[in-house]
Amino acid sequence: MAQEDLLVKLYQLPEYHSGSFSFEGIKIKKAMPFEMSFIVEFARNFSEAWANECEKSFSNAPISCFVAYKKQKIVGFSCYNTTAPGFFGPTGVNENYRGKGIGKALLLEALYALKYAGYAYAFIGRAGPSQFYQNAVGATIIEGSSPGIYQDLITNQ
Ligand SMILES: CC(C)(COP(=O)(O)OP(=O)(O)OC[C@H]1O[C@@H](n2cnc3c(N)ncnc32)[C@H](O)[C@@H]1OP(=O)(O)O)[C@@H](O)C(=O)NCCC(=O)NCCS
Repeated sequence: MAQEDLLVKLYQLPEYHSGSFSFEGIKIKKAMPFEMSFIVEFARNFSEAWANECEKSFSNAPISCFVAYKKQKIVGFSCYNTTAPGFFGPTGVNENYRGKGIGKALLLEALYALKYAGYAYAFIGRAGPSQFYQNAVGATIIEGSSPGIYQDLITNQ
């Protein structure tokens, strides 16, 4: 099935306080420059294309990447303003840590960052688990958005 883009109303986000996530010793914070290669390597577990986008987030000002971690282990990440301005993603959570609210918190960190940067709407490009985004933040499908910007690609990733 074609993966369409989603639209998120940043003026109707569920309440969330940045930096407040804490569960079973897992926390979320904005990534620091000296953590780039480690987070990019984590993103590479999902795809080379996501690693590229994650790396791009470190050249944005401010850095547009959040990382979920337990002690010194990376368990998830999220980025925004990488694929295109206003886009959320890529994001991913280590399989062993899914279902604990980490993905939703990583999503909300990024969406609130976009909101406070002045954006009214965010986009989720070629959303895989669109039900996750619909439930978490009321995202809606942008009809006719596939393949959208994802055409004539030089990679299948
Ligand atoms: C999508 C992903 C980031 C979700 O991370 P997670 O930490 O498991 O998500 P959460 O625990 O925060 O889930 C929040 C809610 O969404 C639901 N949910 C999680 N993944 C879902 C999915 N794939 N489809 C539908 N609902 C989902 C959870 O059940 C939970 O519901 P609840 O609030 O009613 O309990 C994770 O599954 C992942 O890394 N997937 C592979 C990479 C990927 O597809 N990234 C997105 C590309 S657009």
